[in-house]
Amino acid sequence: MTELLKLEHVVAGYGPVTVLNDLSLDMSERAQLAMIGRNGVGKSTTLKTIMGLADVHAGAIYFQGQNLHGVSTHERAQMGLGYVPQTRDIFPSLTVEENLVAGLKLRPKSALDEAYDMFPRLQERRRNGGRELSGGEQQMLSVARALLGKPKLLLLDEPLEGLAPIIREQLLQAFTRMVSELNIAVLMVEQQIQEALIHTEQVVILDHGAVVYAGQSFDLLNDPQTLDRHVGMAVHTL
Ligand SMILES: Nc1ncnc2c1ncn2[C@@H]1O[C@H](COP(=O)(O)OP(=O)(O)O)[C@@H](O)[C@H]1O
Ligand SMILES: [Mg+2]
Repeated sequence: MTELLKLEHVVAGYGPVTVLNDLSLDMSERAQLAMIGRNGVGKSTTLKTIMGLADVHAGAIYFQGQNLHGVSTHERAQMGLGYVPQTRDIFPSLTVEENLVAGLKLRPKSALDEAYDMFPRLQERRRNGGRELSGGEQQMLSVARALLGKPKLLLLDEPLEGLAPIIREQLLQAFTRMVSELNIAVLMVEQQIQEALIHTEQVVILDHGAVVYAGQSFDLLNDPQTLDRHVGMAVHTL
């Protein structure tokens, strides 16, 4: 399969602070990859580094074969990298539809139907203000806005955090549809380990800014010892 994203021995962080230590990672087109690991191991920093929001000290990042060195965050988004940060950064004073229009960039307004098709709930709530939305609806809006940028790879930072099980399930089903219907690859950082493993094909575990395990999600789901060793929460979550 065609290689979509490649991180090669990446050392990165914030100014003089190094967070990622020799991190290597590969994703092919339409891949569904979960990234898990304890708090503070560098999961969010990995996504920020891919988007050009952290400082790369060594190594290289390739997207569709192109080295991203010197490429701005804005250009990365135009190339097809979609990013949904942990903070769900929607505009609270704008309506759902206005939030989506803000994500359209140069695309026609008819493209909003793509977002509404993926998240019918947002269509029902299109005239509601951002601050009237539930946490789950805000997350749907965040993801929908990223979708309107026509990403080839969507980076999701703990998309299920703080959401009720039924909403988590709806989001996870939408992520699967994005892969199967829109050919988008998904890299999902998640603390909800069981759900993340069930809804992805591959998984990497991060520790101290490096990949310490890479394999099939299904295998790890059935390997509580490995989970416990690297993540330390298997017993509680599985
Ligand atoms: N903007 C920042 N400046 C300096 N250090 C940071 C910044 N953001 C995160 N860190 C540090 O980087 C490390 C990894 O953080 P992060 O990537 O957010 O971990 P995770 O997402 O796995 O919980 C932590 O020690 C954190 O304190
Ligand atoms: Mg994080």
